[in-house]
Amino acid sequence: MFRLEPGNLSSAKFLEELVGLERATFKKNDSWADGELEQMAKKRNCIIVVARLAVDGKLCGYVLCTSTGLNVHVSKIAVRADCRRQGIARGLMQAVLRTAANQRRSSSSTLHVALDNEAAVQLYRSLGYKEDGLLEDYYTPGRHAYKMICDLEPYKGAAEEGSLAGRKR
Ligand SMILES: CC(C)(COP(=O)(O)OP(=O)(O)OC[C@H]1O[C@@H](n2cnc3c(N)ncnc32)[C@H](O)[C@@H]1OP(=O)(O)O)[C@@H](O)C(=O)NCCC(=O)NCCS
Repeated sequence: MFRLEPGNLSSAKFLEELVGLERATFKKNDSWADGELEQMAKKRNCIIVVARLAVDGKLCGYVLCTSTGLNVHVSKIAVRADCRRQGIARGLMQAVLRTAANQRRSSSSTLHVALDNEAAVQLYRSLGYKEDGLLEDYYTPGRHAYKMICDLEPYKGAAEEGSLAGRKR
């Protein structure tokens, strides 16, 4: 069981937790743990939703997006390794896309994902994202990314169960 809530960026403890999960999830080359994550998170157009375990309130996942004009770009999503395949990433993504569609009036969402990241590609497809091109050598030479895009019309007019407050599974 987990609950979803907006990231509390005014709390130093929260930023510490966020950076801790980032460091534990991503290899050095892909990690934003050395300042980038904190810098991104403090931008006005950034939307962060986090998941906490119901049992102890510990951070078990987060998604970070940037809204620009009518688009919201998903920059990062991570779920604690021992909490995966429980629907946490799906819950985070649905919550952030509903927030973007309804509070920021976003009509589309984009993201970049490594071709070999099967878990993430499947997650995004299941949420309505479609491939929208290939970015060759995007991460490192030989490591390509898909550009993906999703129409946010289905996420507009969020149902009550989609709101962040009190969401549980
Ligand atoms: C990708 C990631 C966020 C998925 O988190 P998760 O909480 O385990 O995902 P969910 O349980 O919500 O899964 C939702 C759907 O995604 C797909 N999926 C998730 N993990 C998968 C896996 N290992 N293999 C194949 N499909 C997978 C499935 O379609 C799944 O639905 P199902 O369980 O009904 O089959 C997680 O694996 C992760 O943190 N990976 C490392 C960081 C990363 O790669 N982030 C993305 C790039 S920035």
